[in-house]
This record gives sequence, C-alpha cells and structure tokens, in this order.
Amino acid sequence: MTRETGVMPVAIITGASKGLGRALAEALAGRGWDLVLDARGGRALAEAARAVAGYGARVEALPGDVTDAGHRAALVRAARGFGGVDLVVHNASALGAEPLRRLAELPLEGLRRALEVNTVAALGLVREALPWLRGSAEGTVITLSSDAAEEAYETWGGYGASKAALDQLAAVLAVEEPWLRVWAVDPGDMATDLYAAAVPEDDSPRPAPADVVPAFVRLLDERPASGRYSAPSLLEAR
Ligand SMILES: NC(=O)c1ccc[n+]([C@@H]2O[C@H](COP(=O)([O-])OP(=O)(O)OC[C@H]3O[C@@H](n4cnc5c(N)ncnc54)[C@H](OP(=O)(O)O)[C@@H]3O)[C@@H](O)[C@H]2O)c1
Repeated sequence: MTRETGVMPVAIITGASKGLGRALAEALAGRGWDLVLDARGGRALAEAARAVAGYGARVEALPGDVTDAGHRAALVRAARGFGGVDLVVHNASALGAEPLRRLAELPLEGLRRALEVNTVAALGLVREALPWLRGSAEGTVITLSSDAAEEAYETWGGYGASKAALDQLAAVLAVEEPWLRVWAVDPGDMATDLYAAAVPEDDSPRPAPADVVPAFVRLLDERPASGRYSAPSLLEAR
C-alpha cells in the first residue's frame, strides 16, 4: 500500500508496546509505513518505538490509555503530522478480570472496563480518525477479534462479549463507510502476556505474535472485502 501522493502511508496502532501490536508495528515499519504507537506503559513503548524506528520509519510513540478521549485525539493529531491516517489498528485490549472468571464471579467493573477498552475506545478512535480515513486512497480499519467472540468458553464471557460487540461495530462500520476496508481479525492463540494473564495455568505452546503478523500483511497486500477474518486461515491459505 502506498499513497497516491508518494508519501508513505501512516498507521495508528494501539497497544503497540509488546505482543501482537509491537510485532505488527515492526512489520509495517519494515514495509515503509510511518507509525503512531500507543500503550499505557511509557518505558516499554519507548523501547518498542526505538526498535520500530530502526527500520527507517517515522515513529511517534504516545503513552496513554485508549479510553481517554484526549489521548485518542492526540494519536490522530500525530498521524496528521505525518500526512494523514491510512490505517487504524485497534489492538489494545482488556480482559475484564485477570485471571478470567466465570460470569457468576466477574466484577461488573471488569466487564465495564473490557467494554470501554475493547469496544467503546475502538469506536472513539475510529470516529476521531474518520475524516482522514475517508480522505485516504486506501483507508483501512482493523479491529482485533477473538474466537471468544463467537464461542461460549467458560470464563471468557465478559471479554468475549466485548469482542462480539466490537465485531458488530466493525461490520456495521463497513456497511456505513463502504469506501473503507474494515477487517475484524481473530489472530488465533498467541504466546503473549495477555494470554498468560487470562489463563496462567495454561502453558501449552502457542505461536509467537511475529508468526501471526503475515496474516495481517496479507490482508493489507490483497485488500479483500471488509469482513471478519481468521489469521490461522489466512496463513494456511497462503
Ligand atoms: N494472545 C492471544 O492469544 C489472543 C487471542 C485472540 C485475540 N487476541 C487479541 O489480540 C490483541 C493483542 O493482544 P496481545 O496478546 O498481543 O496482548 P499483550 O501482549 O498483552 O499486549 C497488549 C498491548 O496493549 C496495551 N494496552 C492494554 N490496555 C491498554 C489501554 N487501555 N490503552 C492503551 N494500551 C493498552 C499494552 O500495554 P500497556 O499495558 O502498557 O498499556 C500492550 O502494549 C488484543 O486485542 C487481544 O484481545 C489475543
């Protein structure tokens, strides 16, 4: 993906200090994207930004919480400083309880937090960026889904509900903004801090985030129709 103007495309990636967000940021930087990155923890974010800048990309790393409207506006302002917004990846995520708990024990505050981070903040960021996404030749939104959005796994109810709601926001956004690509992507299981916090006793082997990133690169290269995609299927079909 390149801008018609010859300027490099610009992506905002939330939750980019580690895990999938960081791996995706490194991959996009290697492909010539300029990047605006966020996470709450400033030190890990700065470290990630240094690694990403090593690929030659322009990088702005803004520590903050995606639930903060002022922070979301700052992310979009930073992207505009690079020339616009071509891609928003809402990757930051909250589990609602760590470890996960059955619905009978899930604190309602945890459910509210999962909805705020995973769902409400996603729409807030996309709305902030929408005028520039509409102005991009290849405006794209990627939201991170989970198989817990579709399957009824014990203890995954609060997180799964927030991801199901996010999937529906993505689906309706695609209908309302047909000139954008909107992909809800289930990355499949990955060995990350999020999974370890969700189910600490499960130490079965899982793919590293970097192994999943080629699925996202494939979407960006091939630009299929808006919809819900599974990274393992995208990787298998290569
Ligand atoms: N890992 C899996 O098996 C799996 C499976 C299905 C779907 N997913 C989804 O894939 C995405 C990436 O997950 P991951 O496993 O890579 O997670 P991770 O390694 O735990 O990384 C999460 C990132 O989000 C940031 N973050 C969390 N809350 C934030 C907030 N409120 N505001 C800003 N940044 C925030 C974290 O940094 P700070 O904590 O410093 O803010 C970190 O950079 C998530 O949407 C997750 O739901 C993961």
